[in-house]
Amino acid sequence: MTVRIYVPGDASARSVGADEVAAVLAAEARSRGASVQIVRNGSRGLFWLEPLVEVETPAGRTAYGPVDAVEVPGLFEAGFLEGGEHRARIGRIEEHPWFAKQDRLCFARVGVTDPVSCSDYEAHGGLRGLRNALAMSGADVVKTITESGLRGRGGAAFPTGIKWNTVLQTAASQKYVVCNADEGDSGTFSDRMIMEGDPLVLVEGMTIAGVATGATKGYIYLRSEYPDAERTLLAAIANARLHGILGENVLGSGKAFDIEVRRGAGAYICGEETSLLESLEGKRGMVRFKPPVPAISGLFGKPTVINNVITFASAPIILDRSAAYYRDYGVGRSQGTLPIQLTGNIRHGGLVEKAFGVTLRELLYDYGGGSASGRPIKAVQVGGPLGAYIPASQFDLPLDYEAFAAAGAMVGHGGIVVFDDTADMAKLARYAMEFCAIESCGKCTPCRIGSTRGFKVIDRIVAGRDRDANTALLRDLCDTMLNGSLCALGGMTPFPVLSALKHFPEDFGLPRNALAAAA
Ligand SMILES: Cc1cc2nc3c(=O)[nH]c(=O)nc-3n(C[C@H](O)[C@H](O)[C@H](O)COP(=O)(O)O)c2cc1C
Ligand code: SF4
Repeated sequence: MTVRIYVPGDASARSVGADEVAAVLAAEARSRGASVQIVRNGSRGLFWLEPLVEVETPAGRTAYGPVDAVEVPGLFEAGFLEGGEHRARIGRIEEHPWFAKQDRLCFARVGVTDPVSCSDYEAHGGLRGLRNALAMSGADVVKTITESGLRGRGGAAFPTGIKWNTVLQTAASQKYVVCNADEGDSGTFSDRMIMEGDPLVLVEGMTIAGVATGATKGYIYLRSEYPDAERTLLAAIANARLHGILGENVLGSGKAFDIEVRRGAGAYICGEETSLLESLEGKRGMVRFKPPVPAISGLFGKPTVINNVITFASAPIILDRSAAYYRDYGVGRSQGTLPIQLTGNIRHGGLVEKAFGVTLRELLYDYGGGSASGRPIKAVQVGGPLGAYIPASQFDLPLDYEAFAAAGAMVGHGGIVVFDDTADMAKLARYAMEFCAIESCGKCTPCRIGSTRGFKVIDRIVAGRDRDANTALLRDLCDTMLNGSLCALGGMTPFPVLSALKHFPEDFGLPRNALAAAA
């Protein structure tokens, strides 16, 4: 009997030796005359246990991790093909405390299936959403998405149904679906994990958007630093065409939809949607004025659905299980689940998919296990380089777009970067300004000039030069950037700066409480 062994083939597992483990497993099985099939799946998201090997046994999938290539003969000796005892034996991942309490909707198949196999995809619930969508009118599909409460997962949290409806209602000879896979935020990797671990869910979600709005052509604008994702996406798209999921006649419906992958230009601003469209059109990535919004005049001036990877990847389950099913997860106006990425100084980094409402404290301590250094956690930055620094006193904040906004923070893409008490928040604030100066597209003055002035003013404060005057100047500058920038790069850079100043004034050499009104 051939035994299936799963070894993650995504970039995170490969970076810690998964390729070598897979090769040694195959060689060792050959030398022992054992018949094995090695499947390169996605990562389950427990990064500290990678490479995480799972073996299909009659009692279910048994996991071992982290597995070092030199341990492979020992695993065979221990009878791991039958689920035998070994130091690295974890058992069923679904029963692991880190995994058991999650709400895996979007990530249900990641780490379970062969990412590029359409039959594996279908056997695990894939395509049911698309089949339902094809049997409905476009307006009904859009209504289902609207009623699910799904909001864009790329950062701005704009209701997806409203966007799709605008494209549906706008008459045009050609419409487009564009997937924003630029994923430039610090501490985020869930887009990559979907593209490497279950790319067909993205293909299905984009196809649902296409058939619902009347768009026949889709583009995935992929971060140039993601070669593994590109390979997997291209193989999945080719298989989807062979399987009749993409092409002139989507699943025999008579409707056409196809997808092309385009590599990004490697600039942070190319993740901003209008800048991305410019780049896709072959131009320099500069932000466009809005209106018109891309849903009315987007790629090549045509109505365009532009959404993040996770937004599209959430559509299939909504069309499969109903709007009410999805909406039942979450709190307030933050409905459904969010794939949360735990990174930085954290013991158990990885991906947790949970319904909105989970608190930062639960994520940092129940899932993350505290800091990797063992020192107290001083602050976390949520939502990328433009996110506010949240101090330990606010760790009971629930993941909820409105609760975060009320606290002067943002959920963004759900990436959480952790800092212990050795972090210098003034240096981090300076870095935010410097990042903006480097990545600014240059179109508007508050961002282009303000960011450069910003880090110089911070330098003067830290050096103790005219502290009060320079602090007032910094706040004035932040105010101008917040209110005068054309896009969120300049408009949100003040968030990390002001939050660092407000919560950690002593790192700037300022007395505590002197700046309570800073943010
Ligand atoms: C400077 C900047 C960078 C951005 N980078 C990304 C990105 O890498 N990925 C992403 O999905 N959205 C990014 N966005 C948000 C997009 O502009 C846009 O809101 C999103 O693609 C819309 O999709 P959604 O509604 O599904 O979130 C960025 C926005 C700004 C201002
Ligand atoms: S805020 Fe910055 S990145 Fe955005 S349009 Fe203005 S200069 Fe460009």
